[in-house]
Amino acid sequence: YKENPTFPKDFLWGASSSAWQVEGAVAEDGRSTAIIDLNSKKKKPYADNSVAADHYHFYKEDVKLMKEAGFTSYRFSIAWSRIYPDNSGVPNQLGIDFYNNLINELVNNGISPIVTLYHYDMPVWVDEEFNGWYGRGIIDAFDKYARTCFEEFGDRVKYWLAINEQNMQIVYGNWLGVCKNSETWFEDKWKVNHIMNLCHTKAVIACHELVDGGKIGPVPGMVPFYPESASPEDQIATMNAEELTEKIWNDFDANREYNGFIKRYWKEHNIDPDIRPGDMDLVSQAKIDFFGINCYRSNVAKASSIDSKFQEIGLNKSGKKGNFVYPNYPGIFEQTENPFVDTTDWDWEIDPVAMRYLLRYMDDHYHLPMVITENGYGAHEKLNEDGKVHDIERIKFLKENIYQIGLAIEDGAKVFGYNPWSFTDLLSTGNGMAKRYGLVYINTTDENVLDLKRIPKDSFNWYKEVITSNGAKV
Ligand code: BG6
Repeated sequence: YKENPTFPKDFLWGASSSAWQVEGAVAEDGRSTAIIDLNSKKKKPYADNSVAADHYHFYKEDVKLMKEAGFTSYRFSIAWSRIYPDNSGVPNQLGIDFYNNLINELVNNGISPIVTLYHYDMPVWVDEEFNGWYGRGIIDAFDKYARTCFEEFGDRVKYWLAINEQNMQIVYGNWLGVCKNSETWFEDKWKVNHIMNLCHTKAVIACHELVDGGKIGPVPGMVPFYPESASPEDQIATMNAEELTEKIWNDFDANREYNGFIKRYWKEHNIDPDIRPGDMDLVSQAKIDFFGINCYRSNVAKASSIDSKFQEIGLNKSGKKGNFVYPNYPGIFEQTENPFVDTTDWDWEIDPVAMRYLLRYMDDHYHLPMVITENGYGAHEKLNEDGKVHDIERIKFLKENIYQIGLAIEDGAKVFGYNPWSFTDLLSTGNGMAKRYGLVYINTTDENVLDLKRIPKDSFNWYKEVITSNGAKV
């Protein structure tokens, strides 16, 4: 291979965020409360999101910095509770105005918006009215919200993502706020998942109906699994692990039907996912255009004995910082550690090669275009004495990931953009500002809201050069 892989001419270079993690202003201009606002206040380790990076007020300055870095894309999410704060059916004009202003600012600066409709921020009224993702009432409510977004913003927004990491929300239901009863989640998750699939399906149909040239896709949270050894049993366990954490979602999204693995799994566990007449007809009418790809790390699987103890994925009980318990599905797979890769401050595997592996895997299976919607390095960070942040480890991480993406493109994967997490520092899902991901430092802490000054880190300046050279100078 050449030293630096070549990126396509019109490759989109940008970064990523989500509404509840970056915006703040939770009670402003008619936005109503989201469940995550309540969780962020009452539950450690969530951090208070009422200010976050205050992007709601700083968006012009933020877009100016994006322009300075040479961005051609920016992936962000819309807060449902800003557009529909209640069940009146009347959209909130001030919420629409905010996103119109942000989108105009981006487009006027040559930055293509890539917009997620739902990134973990369920409005309280939707939860109360329809029992959140458990009730079929959400299907029409989500359809209405999606249609409003397509109608209001679709003239300028051409790339859409309906639901962030649906697979992770089901797999980590307790962690990401979807699960209401851990006792029954083993079965409930499949009913919830089916309802999410119907919401996603309707959003895909509506996007194609309402957005001229609009493209829409899912955005799975991908953590590729490697087998622990070359034993045939470990190979099957690894395939099983991929199925139960990622592949059954990707197969469904691309092929518009549940795959054989999950049907067998439901049958063996006496699970009824509550698929009703007409559902699969609807599903078959939608066709996705691309995959958004979130990928930070990799995992390892090994064979699991049928007599072992079931261990559901859940919150960190292992004593490791910000990590999930390694699960065990008896007879299916067991997760284990990888001695070949290093880890971050938060025990996330640092494995850029996983990115190439994953992009090739996705291309082999689905032959669809892909855009990286998340990838990044979370770390403890403070301003240095010189008033700067020298985030050498982040530069190394991003550099190696970009290099591997370039190789995957040369391998044939159709990747059209890279949007690492995150542009500015923002709240991590579980660790607030203690775990920072940004190319731009935000002067604030979990304990005290400071002046929120935007301070480009070393990675910002480095990324600017990457973009100027279209990836040639990694
Ligand atoms: C992704 C989510 O899975 O991971 C983001 O889409 C999240 O919302 C990111 O912030 C990093 O995870 P964490 O827990 O470190 O914030």
